[in-house]
Amino acid sequence: MKEIRVGIIGGGMISHRHMTIYSNIQRHAEQLGFTAKVVAVAEIDAAKLEAWRQRYGFDAKDCYTDFREMLKRDDLDTIDVCVHNNLHAPVSIAVMKAGFDCYCEKPISSNWHDANMMTEAAKKLGRKFHVQISSIMTPQSRVARDMIARGDLGDLYYVNLHFFSQRRRPGYDLPQFTTDFYTKKVAGHGPLIDLGIYLISQILFVTGVPELKSVSGFATRGLEYDDRLIKDPNGFTVEDFGTGFAKYANGMTFNVLGASAGNYRDYGLTYILGSKGGLEITGTDTTGGKFAAAANANAATLFGGAPELTFFGDQGGRNVTVELNCAENGNLEELADPSKLLYNDNQVMWLAYKLGILNDETRYNTPEIAKNMLLLTDGLFLSSELGREVTVDEIKAMSKSMAITDQETPFGTIHYDLDF
Ligand SMILES: NC(=O)c1ccc[n+]([C@@H]2O[C@H](COP(=O)([O-])OP(=O)(O)OC[C@H]3O[C@@H](n4cnc5c(N)ncnc54)[C@H](O)[C@@H]3O)[C@@H](O)[C@H]2O)c1
Repeated sequence: MKEIRVGIIGGGMISHRHMTIYSNIQRHAEQLGFTAKVVAVAEIDAAKLEAWRQRYGFDAKDCYTDFREMLKRDDLDTIDVCVHNNLHAPVSIAVMKAGFDCYCEKPISSNWHDANMMTEAAKKLGRKFHVQISSIMTPQSRVARDMIARGDLGDLYYVNLHFFSQRRRPGYDLPQFTTDFYTKKVAGHGPLIDLGIYLISQILFVTGVPELKSVSGFATRGLEYDDRLIKDPNGFTVEDFGTGFAKYANGMTFNVLGASAGNYRDYGLTYILGSKGGLEITGTDTTGGKFAAAANANAATLFGGAPELTFFGDQGGRNVTVELNCAENGNLEELADPSKLLYNDNQVMWLAYKLGILNDETRYNTPEIAKNMLLLTDGLFLSSELGREVTVDEIKAMSKSMAITDQETPFGTIHYDLDF
């Protein structure tokens, strides 16, 4: 049985979910034909590192405050990057430059420029690179993609994606999350990239990643804030609201609206309209499916409810509405074709890709999907700034790096050299 030895960088909240997934992979090793073991961890905060060490029973020699020391080891097969958004590019590039293939948390980065830099680094350095987009690793997304590719919806002309929370700002209303989620320097942007990476990427995935032409958008920190609740000295500096209208070369238009807070009720509304049919997507999985949940528990989905699809169309001139039971269809699909298991979890797909069981054609190209998603959001922010519609060429030309190049740590400054 092939065992992949993993080193984790960043021992915060999401690293624990990654650990749950690795332990579920171990439980399903027979079925998968491979397994993975986390053998080293790096975390700049010594107290957090020690808590991590005790929780997972690691030896002190396998725990590092400086990840660059961990990268000197020769017994690691891959590195799993769990630091925050604007550290994804510098840390992933350092990992790949040190000779490792790399798996990185979402969002690949906060902007197209840095995402492009990461995929270019992977290409130039000859490393495998994959990112977390759990929303596309589901039977729901596969069924929707297959229906659209088969022509069940006909020509696509409109997508509506709204995700609105009355009060759901990580680190502010939700204190269990780090305040890094709302500081521009670290997070880059607000809900459009935080949850948007799941929801916008899902739309691009199911519609075949169409070619973007232009975007018109508006983004703001619209609400009044209570300074007493802002715990970060840098302030709350990301948007809490953004909306945009994108046009694609295939004729599809895309209306997106995302808010982490605003004076309206929580709601999500996602539907795709085509000349022959429409599809509603509900309960998108933003947590990673069954491997991400502790044994025998269910993964959470956005706005609750199981991931489902509803098809609207006509049969012989009569309107029909068809519910597609995604969980049940997913189980049947896996029974009929066990390789589908490789498509139901990010880390499983990453390990299968790393081992060559999946290749560049058969894995989902998560970095490219994430890059296309960031073209849309960069376009939305740029349009908001300039007060006019922007073309895809303008978005690429004006996308600015937000990568952190000098990081202050308790043991000194880490300088990231982004040349590769
Ligand atoms: N928290 C969640 O539920 C969640 C869910 C999905 C994705 N994510 C993504 O995961 C990433 C991390 O989020 P989080 O909630 O785990 O944040 P976190 O702050 O809890 O964890 C990040 C950790 O990285 C450490 N770190 C920073 N720089 C480091 C370095 N150079 N070397 C080693 N360690 C370093 C920090 O000290 C911190 O402990 C974000 O990009 C976020 O979007 C988080």
